[in-house]
Amino acid sequence: MLYEDFEQAFEARLQTRADAYVNAVEYHRVQFGQTIEYLLRSILEQTDHLIKQSDAGWARTEDVVTDILYCANMDVEQLLALKTPNELMADRDFEAVKTKLYETKCYPVSEHLNYISFPPALERKAFIGKHFDCFKADSYFCDLGFGPGVLTAFILEQKASWRAAGVDISKDCLHHAQRLLEKKEVLERSELSVADVRSLPYPDDTFDVVVAVEVLEHIPDPEAGLAEAMRVLKPGGYAMTALPVRLPLWMHLYDFDTPDEVLALYEKVGLEVVDFEKKEFRLQGGSFVDTFALSVNP
Ligand SMILES: C[S@@+](CC[C@H](N)C(=O)[O-])C[C@H]1O[C@@H](n2cnc3c(N)ncnc32)[C@H](O)[C@@H]1O
Repeated sequence: MLYEDFEQAFEARLQTRADAYVNAVEYHRVQFGQTIEYLLRSILEQTDHLIKQSDAGWARTEDVVTDILYCANMDVEQLLALKTPNELMADRDFEAVKTKLYETKCYPVSEHLNYISFPPALERKAFIGKHFDCFKADSYFCDLGFGPGVLTAFILEQKASWRAAGVDISKDCLHHAQRLLEKKEVLERSELSVADVRSLPYPDDTFDVVVAVEVLEHIPDPEAGLAEAMRVLKPGGYAMTALPVRLPLWMHLYDFDTPDEVLALYEKVGLEVVDFEKKEFRLQGGSFVDTFALSVNP
């Protein structure tokens, strides 16, 4: 149906009510006009934004989408048809989030899509990249809550002599991340598994670096998770962490209110913060602050 036909059909439908519901008809007519105007404007803005995107933006989209299609073993049409689970907005319960969100094929795909243009996700990579030179040449690192595996792959690609371990609570993330590491030809330097960050399957003092990026807020007690990360981190080892502040999503089971609360957590578990960045990001529903930290286990 063409837009004009649609508008005529809408008008004709309103006319059938015009005698009985004068005000309601007028209300719907005005609302229709505003909605259509709004939709057309936002479509135009988005199109305009996409067309003006730099070549780097297009290339990144191409890379990320190509990787996702490989990891999820699907084509673009199937990717766009994936349904995001949204029926449990009120459940802030770990088991519910795990079964209804993390253990779906859609979840690693949606987390991976963030790396096209979601500023906080791009910032995570930038923060990690900024600190590569601090670490020893043959570091053994552990990616806690690796999700789609983008950061694990990024580190292994940048650091050819590093080895990785990692855990995530989601089997779907494990499968997705392993496909990504295989595609990037770094799988043989990694051992990823399904486990809970609160009970890691590693002996004490195993790793030179632990990475816990946007994961500790997904458990009700971030301090317990971070203390477990400290247990497996060697003395003198580094922690790279990212935690959002004032971002009460339904899968976030702990809300940090201020960046100082995040800093207090690091101090409490005995980490010495070497670099701390806080950045404000605007989302549709308002703004939030994301924090990024490099700390040492003294
Ligand atoms: C927002 S994603 C972050 C993924 C990745 N670190 C990144 O920055 O791209 C959070 C991840 O934490 C995982 N997760 C949540 N609770 C967990 C737990 N208790 N133990 C291990 N992983 C968990 C989820 O499955 C999800 O993959």
